[in-house]
Amino acid sequence: MFKKVKGFRDIFGKDTFYWQMVEDRFKSFFSKFGYEEIKIPILERTDLFVRGIGETTDIVEKEMFTFQDRDGTYLSLRPEGTAPVVRSFIENKLYEPPSIRKYYYYGPMFRRERPQKGRFRQFYQVGIEAFGSVSPLLDAEVIYILYSFLNSFGINEYLRMEINSIGCPECRPNYREKLVEYLEKYKSDLCKDCNNRLGRNPLRILDCKVESCKDIVKDAPLILDYLCNDCAGHFEKLKEYLDDFGVEFVVNPKIVRGLDYYVKTAFEMVTDKLGASSAVGAGGRYDGLIKALGGPDIPGIGFAIGVDRLVELIKIKQDVEYRLIDCYVITFDEYVKQAVSLVNLLRNEGFNVTLGYDLGSIKSEMKKANRLGAKTVLIIGEDEVKNGVITLKNMDSGEQLQVTNDELLNRLKKIIN
Ligand code: HAM
Repeated sequence: MFKKVKGFRDIFGKDTFYWQMVEDRFKSFFSKFGYEEIKIPILERTDLFVRGIGETTDIVEKEMFTFQDRDGTYLSLRPEGTAPVVRSFIENKLYEPPSIRKYYYYGPMFRRERPQKGRFRQFYQVGIEAFGSVSPLLDAEVIYILYSFLNSFGINEYLRMEINSIGCPECRPNYREKLVEYLEKYKSDLCKDCNNRLGRNPLRILDCKVESCKDIVKDAPLILDYLCNDCAGHFEKLKEYLDDFGVEFVVNPKIVRGLDYYVKTAFEMVTDKLGASSAVGAGGRYDGLIKALGGPDIPGIGFAIGVDRLVELIKIKQDVEYRLIDCYVITFDEYVKQAVSLVNLLRNEGFNVTLGYDLGSIKSEMKKANRLGAKTVLIIGEDEVKNGVITLKNMDSGEQLQVTNDELLNRLKKIIN
């Protein structure tokens, strides 16, 4: 027997109803803000992620599923969506004519992380990317979209919006120097990973989950004290606009993000309900990325939501209705025509209907209907056809009666809703 690959999983049964709650909502939600869908490939050239996400990030250093194609090219399963969307934006010249361009995307991402609660090697993201404005008003609206979309599932109490500014190539180097100066003093107490990060990507140390590192970082210098005027002004405006949108947020000066493309605004919608995997959705501004990947100098900002994590939170909050089969229709070979016309009618009325395909035994078909959790069983047999009626059984109450076609719809509506 085959088993699924470590960190990968199947989603089925009642779980899919939770997933569909999310999937059914984001399209109309994001459309209202003027976002259009973009479908991007699952596979890209590895270089795109190396240059886009950053050579010294965990994702690129150790988490990508990478293989060499037959022609020698290195390809990777996408670990995130921003770099591919930017690649497509440049390649398809979507920046022409110049304007604001807004996209959303949905699909599986792949990272070879250590699996744990809320963390998988194949996980799903729904994300948005907006190109073409440096205004903090856009940042505020993007954050508002994340905030209001997640809260639309009634899980406000589990979530907290945290924001930060992580500066820009003007001011970050200066901060980085100060941070390294401070951390050098505690070098021997930092974990092995952080010792590595010290020379390569010191800001990531602020994000380390190891207790001894957390202690050291408590008194580390904060980026917010080192922002240049442009970044500081941007951050002040952002906070003002977030108030205008009615977004409740806290400033967390230790947010650094695991991808290198960010400048200025960084944000995370976090929860305490999923163990160490605390961010349900996260993002930020990435003004230099399009240029760095070979496009024009156009700014961008976006976020991605981890749908696996969102589903976990919704499950804690509410019980979704498992509504698979409203009507299971049992008939006999002679009356298939009547049965087919009935199921067509019912489906047009919006009911979920299945035919009993193994004609002939009411008893065994009843059993199957029961096992499927069908709400009702409809029988069309000799008597029913002769008398112009249908036998309707309510599977919850056990009540069984004969009704005319016209009565049937009304009765069903009462039972099913
Ligand atoms: P990220 O923070 O790496 O950002 O991922 C966004 C979200 O994806 C996380 O907050 C989390 O909910 C989910 N996620 C990440 N890794 C896993 C995993 N192994 N298992 C389950 N869920 C996971 C990005 O990916 C950026 N591209 C977001 C962005 C868009 N920034 C600007 N635009």
